[in-house]
Amino acid sequence: MKKFIVANWKCNPTTLNQAKNLFNSIKKGLGAVKNTKVIICPPFVYLEELAKFKRTISLGAQDCYFQEKGAFTGEVSAAMLKDLGCDYVILGHSERRKYFSETNDLINKKLKSALEKGLKPVLCIENTSQIKQCLKGILKQKVIIAYEPIWAIGTGKTPSPAQAKSFNVKIKKLVASNTIVLYGGSVNAKNVEGFIIKSGFDGVLVGGASLKPKELINIVKFVDRI
Ligand code: 13P
Repeated sequence: MKKFIVANWKCNPTTLNQAKNLFNSIKKGLGAVKNTKVIICPPFVYLEELAKFKRTISLGAQDCYFQEKGAFTGEVSAAMLKDLGCDYVILGHSERRKYFSETNDLINKKLKSALEKGLKPVLCIENTSQIKQCLKGILKQKVIIAYEPIWAIGTGKTPSPAQAKSFNVKIKKLVASNTIVLYGGSVNAKNVEGFIIKSGFDGVLVGGASLKPKELINIVKFVDRI
């Protein structure tokens, strides 16, 4: 099975030009990858332009609303994202839970609408207790799970490979045998080996390091060789 590297650019960069440069530097540096699926998730506003260059890189959004259209000012629907050339969507990220008060119930609705419109969701969880409610009424193998401990996000701190492995094992017991499970939180080119080889994750969700083309390329190239 292919390993997954999901790049979450969060609210970066500030201009379309910077986004194009970043995307193209990553694409150029990666060349052909064989065993890895690379998914870049930029802010909504850059998706349409980046879709023109994507080729081997897939595109994902960082959120979507659960209604398809209507009077929901400021929201973007799964149908709109699919139409732009998106194949993936990150849902339930801890920053959305923290700053935008997203609940497991809301995330469950978003997951259902993403699946209905043909987007593959990457469901972020901070702990295993969030899985059941988020996945209520959803086939578990249809969703990619990304385990991101809050204390590891943007801090440079990471769980030990043994700690991360025990979480991976716990999560895998709660999902389907073929559900893809990723690790996220301060991943870089040096520590990615631990999460894949020692902890047995199927890939990683990368934040800060995905804004540095060299670092992201090194992460992907390492994983692609495994
Ligand atoms: P960092 O890699 O910057 O810690 O961010 C992790 C994350 O939140 C990815 O979604």
